[in-house]
Amino acid sequence: MSAVTGAAILAGAKVFGSTSAPGTASNPTFKIGGDLEVNRLGFGAMRITGEGNWGWPADRENALKVLRHAVELSVNLIDTADAYGPETSELLIAEALYPYPTGLVIATKGGLTRPAPDQPVLNGRPEHLKQALDGSLKRLRLERIDLYQLHFVDPKVPIEESVGALKQMQDAGKIRHVGLSNVDPNEIARARKVVPIVSVQNRYNIEDRNSENVLAYCEKENLGFLPWFPIGGDRGLRPDNPLNVAAKAHGVSVYQVALAWLLERSPVMLPIPGTSSLAHLEENVAAAKLHLTPEDWKAIDAIAG
Ligand SMILES: NC(=O)c1ccc[n+]([C@@H]2O[C@H](COP(=O)([O-])OP(=O)(O)OC[C@H]3O[C@@H](n4cnc5c(N)ncnc54)[C@H](OP(=O)(O)O)[C@@H]3O)[C@@H](O)[C@H]2O)c1
Repeated sequence: MSAVTGAAILAGAKVFGSTSAPGTASNPTFKIGGDLEVNRLGFGAMRITGEGNWGWPADRENALKVLRHAVELSVNLIDTADAYGPETSELLIAEALYPYPTGLVIATKGGLTRPAPDQPVLNGRPEHLKQALDGSLKRLRLERIDLYQLHFVDPKVPIEESVGALKQMQDAGKIRHVGLSNVDPNEIARARKVVPIVSVQNRYNIEDRNSENVLAYCEKENLGFLPWFPIGGDRGLRPDNPLNVAAKAHGVSVYQVALAWLLERSPVMLPIPGTSSLAHLEENVAAAKLHLTPEDWKAIDAIAG
């Protein structure tokens, strides 16, 4: 199946028809925390590490190229975490992009360690988060992180204690904005009593709508919502996915339609598709220019509800 490339889109060669309801793709940017304006289609930097999120990628030069090309294509929101690698994702970002271009927002996370491949361990203790943040600042060569996200709520540590540590570090000037990840509305509300929260990152895509209530909360409160696994993660999307109808109709890839669907789903949606491939990166970024027609929405709604 052919895909719409960044170059084709820039040349105006291939776009979907006019946007229909809910029709939010016409807002190409979002201001995280009211002041960090980003293009809504970002980049997830988990896939530039080695297998199992462990170590260096097999092709390190390619990983650096992917990061640089993302910025060339106007991506200015990059999501990472100290646990990706661990550390190698952040180190590669700095190697590829430092000194950072004006307006590039690097969102990283703490609260999850990875002692072995594919073995995440939660740690939301304040002393760990403080150390984790200092490590991220050093690896990213920054004095302040624009968006620092609590990766997971540690069931052994009340969320108030974890975000309390982030508030202290914000007061110390090391964090601009605080975000959460893998949370429910109740946890967001509890955290917001301790520190302003500007974004939430949960798993969400056309086939996985468990966080619909969290998305609704974010929309109401104007918090950025960063869906992880936006195109289905390792498993990808089902072959009978409802987006196939639109993809076939327009001769583009189902992943591009999945990203266009997300962007139109909500104005606070900030998808962060992850890839280690230059070609996939171009396809994904080009999807920000796709617009679903009323017929597309009708077909999708008829199947997906
Ligand atoms: N907060 C959390 O707990 C959490 C958890 C997981 C992920 N994340 C974040 O969310 C980001 C996105 O999640 P993800 O990377 O796991 O999943 P994803 O973006 O849904 O999917 C990535 C997978 O899709 C493939 N892919 C990407 N673009 C494609 C395209 N155009 N056509 C076909 N295949 C394509 C990638 O392989 P190729 O490399 O071959 O392109 C990779 O296997 C991560 O990078 C990370 O920053 C956060």
